[in-house]
Amino acid sequence: MKDKYLIIGPLYDFLSFIYSFNQINKCKTSMHDRIKPDSKVLFAGVGHGIDAIAAAELGAEVTVVDLSATMLKKFNKGIAKKEFKHPIRQLHKNILHVDEFSTYDMVFANFFLNLFSEKNLIQVLGHLTNLAKKGGLVAIGDWVPPRGNMIAKFFQILYWRIADIIFWVMANNELHPFYDYQKIMKDLGLEVKKVKYFRVLFDERYCSILGQKA
Ligand SMILES: C[S@@+](CC[C@H](N)C(=O)[O-])C[C@H]1O[C@@H](n2cnc3c(N)ncnc32)[C@H](O)[C@@H]1O
Repeated sequence: MKDKYLIIGPLYDFLSFIYSFNQINKCKTSMHDRIKPDSKVLFAGVGHGIDAIAAAELGAEVTVVDLSATMLKKFNKGIAKKEFKHPIRQLHKNILHVDEFSTYDMVFANFFLNLFSEKNLIQVLGHLTNLAKKGGLVAIGDWVPPRGNMIAKFFQILYWRIADIIFWVMANNELHPFYDYQKIMKDLGLEVKKVKYFRVLFDERYCSILGQKA
């Protein structure tokens, strides 16, 4: 299968750092206070994986999944020379082909779900929820739908579209809509326990949402 991140993959974290003034990285690790040593944690579409590495540094048993060999190569550069209590397990496959149901204490989907059409997003998030244990947590880091007055919304949409178009051209991703993740999580039976927001310039652009499986 073609690696969509072959060209832009190596630059992904650098571009996200510049574009978000490091707010994306803060967002991705903002629920790490819920990670306990030896807990089983999964990262779907891990990319370069600063969030997964931070979880392994907390002593969690981390599994990462990604379709892109380019992204996993960058991930492996990030963990070279690092030692963890539990070695990180890597799966180079489609997340939908991971069938370890009811296995994980915490499942992360950071800047991953917006890649999918709404129909597929519901399927993927439903699948991630099934991978979590009963009472387990699902954390989503992603974009906040535009809010505020018309001018604020205009600039939020413009800011978003810049990234959207770059990834459409470079990675052949779909042009993504904004999603109301909290609603979708509730529809899938997750209880929203906490939401943290991250600002860039005048507005909240990103959020991390923590859901719990009943
Ligand atoms: C936008 S990047 C985000 C990477 C990382 N989570 C972050 O926040 O920096 C999306 C990642 O998901 C991976 N991906 C896309 N579809 C996937 C799928 N069906 N299964 C597993 N990984 C997938 C891509 O290869 C890419 O590394």
